[in-house]
Amino acid sequence: MNNQVSELIVHGESTVRAAMELLDHSGERILLLLDNEGRLLRTLTDGDIRRYLLSGRTLDDTLEDIPAQTAVTMTPSTTPQQALALMNARGIDHLPVLDELGRPVGLLARCDIHAPILLSIPHMSEHEREYVEQAFATNWIAPLGPNVDAFEAELAEYVGVGHAAALSSGTAAIHLALHILGVGRGDTVFCSSLTFIGSSNPILYLGAEPVFIDSEPNTWNMSPVALARALDAAARKGRLPKAVIVVNLYGQSADMHPIQDACDRYGVPIVEDAAESLGATYRGKASGTLGAMGIYSFNGNKIITTSGGGMLVSDNPDYIQRAKFLATQGREPAPHYEHKEMAYNYRMSNVLAGIGRGQLRVLEDRVAARRAVYARYVEGLAGLPVSMMPEPGFGRATHWLSALTLDRSDTSLCPSDLLRTLSSELIEGRPIWKPMHLQPLFAGCEYYAHGADGTSISERLFAEGICLPSGSTLTEKEQEHIIKVIRTALAT
Ligand SMILES: Cc1ncc(COP(=O)(O)O)c(C=O)c1O
Repeated sequence: MNNQVSELIVHGESTVRAAMELLDHSGERILLLLDNEGRLLRTLTDGDIRRYLLSGRTLDDTLEDIPAQTAVTMTPSTTPQQALALMNARGIDHLPVLDELGRPVGLLARCDIHAPILLSIPHMSEHEREYVEQAFATNWIAPLGPNVDAFEAELAEYVGVGHAAALSSGTAAIHLALHILGVGRGDTVFCSSLTFIGSSNPILYLGAEPVFIDSEPNTWNMSPVALARALDAAARKGRLPKAVIVVNLYGQSADMHPIQDACDRYGVPIVEDAAESLGATYRGKASGTLGAMGIYSFNGNKIITTSGGGMLVSDNPDYIQRAKFLATQGREPAPHYEHKEMAYNYRMSNVLAGIGRGQLRVLEDRVAARRAVYARYVEGLAGLPVSMMPEPGFGRATHWLSALTLDRSDTSLCPSDLLRTLSSELIEGRPIWKPMHLQPLFAGCEYYAHGADGTSISERLFAEGICLPSGSTLTEKEQEHIIKVIRTALAT
């Protein structure tokens, strides 16, 4: 806020010439006309003065007869969000800030309001255009092509897996993985409850029934004890799931070894939903490569993006070959169009795969940047009644999103209060995912909590947590501002 208001003040007895000279010298394009008590009467722009002169006044006349006008103003407690909305609604670029007596104490200019700070935005490098231009130069715009083949090979190499299929979305990849594992009507599929709906919708696509598994506190991901309890119960009922979808939340791998042990005991395959965890590791292996199949998402807010897209990976070549077949309408190898089974149109285009190839080249930089964002939050929020999402020592988290919980015993502030405060400062936060077992869509589905007594970790995380802006484009200055807003909110 510009507080040099004293340089912008004129009174009724000021001359037009004096007002014009003041306008000329001040950096702002606005003057404040005050009464003798120092209260704002109206604002004055170049246009207002021009109209005054055109009405027959001279440069030596005073401003006494200038028409009255109600100024659009703000108070010191008006938020940037409200100020911006007011400026937009009234088509103006300045707002005088008035105290309780109507005296100006500042002037807010549109350019003083920082741009909105968003949760996680695409971050292109200098490489993407190169591959996209190749696609245009060769007119390889249509589905499939050299970028798709190369993106699959390069991503498979990066994560250290045998085979990959580039698809239209992460959700499509989960759908195909379940289809390939034979999931169908009447089957059950276990799935992490604390996730985005894209993890569990594909279970419904196939007419199967989800059973949701709680999180554990150390990783916020699937609780191995809840999973083991659910598998034992399913085995007793003679109704083992066809698959277990393990989600790796916010760039953090689940504790895969005990989960694998539990699944291996009953021969149930794992689909690793690594939509949010590309670049993370678990005990030396890339997140997404520990199950029978793994999936990644490249939608707009992910650590790397193709604007929209996904990848299915596996060491089993048959799975990936079948995925490619199912993703191209199940077209049989015949010169005419021969189809024996229902399939999908799920392949990634050659243009988008070009973006993916460029993004993959900077993935390690993006991981480093997001980890640095997380580290700055840890440092900047130290001492406050908040706990950052923990990072267990079994591997590297990418911190795709930096998330925290409010220690409700030490603050009366709840996540929605904090999100509202952030939003008023044009900072985008987001609640922790609403667990799937609480979603109306899945009402009546079975749920296994982490605690044998029913203690639910995902419900607590949902009630206490938020995600903060975490993108690799976030500047230190922006982050300092976010930290300051949180500190102030928690102090009041
Ligand atoms: C955990 C999780 N699973 C699945 C998906 C679905 O991916 P997509 O949006 O590419 O379909 C997403 C994100 O979008 C996700 O966050």
